[in-house]
Amino acid sequence: MTNIAVLVSGRGSNLQAIIDSIENGYLKAEISVVISDIAGAYALERAKKHGLNAVHIDPKGFETKESYEEEVLGVLRNKKVELVLLAGYMKIIGKTLLSTYKNRILNIHPALLPAFPGLHAQQQAFDYGVKVAGCTVHFVDEELDGGAIILQECVEVKDCDTAETLAGRILEQEHKIYPEAVKLFVENKLHLEGRKVKIIG
Ligand code: GAR
Repeated sequence: MTNIAVLVSGRGSNLQAIIDSIENGYLKAEISVVISDIAGAYALERAKKHGLNAVHIDPKGFETKESYEEEVLGVLRNKKVELVLLAGYMKIIGKTLLSTYKNRILNIHPALLPAFPGLHAQQQAFDYGVKVAGCTVHFVDEELDGGAIILQECVEVKDCDTAETLAGRILEQEHKIYPEAVKLFVENKLHLEGRKVKIIG
């Protein structure tokens, strides 16, 4: 069983998708801890409802990003975490976490990367007028939303869409491809070649 930590900042619907995939037997993994940088994040409630360890670590309580991440790292080590999932976690991962968990941190992003990195990706795509939007699961590296791509799913943009309706349909796809990508990781089926991810089998 792979020990997972999920880092969150908000609503936690992607966390919920991972929890559900574990509970229904699709994913053979265990969530050892859920960590939020935001005190009132609903994701923490979701975690508690499922009997998971839910921790708030306030970045404001630390002088530097390094010392904040050292604290997070302490929790991850304590729980013997092997894989870190970012699920709506809105902080940029720094050197401290990246060097310890190299190629073991995944993120879900609500756009077809490398288009529309950063915040409000669905709104960016909508405003740009793309005909096809989507979402991406990728390895996390030093670059913002820049790591090697594991899975992507497309979502057609309809004439009647608003940024909100589009975001809703993208989110449905996020909930499918994130558990799928995690399953590939925990089953050791991802092979990294430079910035290309080959899926074995
Ligand atoms: C999701 O749409 C996720 O892709 C996005 O935040 C939302 C979190 O929702 N992440 C990013 O934009 C990261 N750059 P959730 O808390 O319900 O999972």
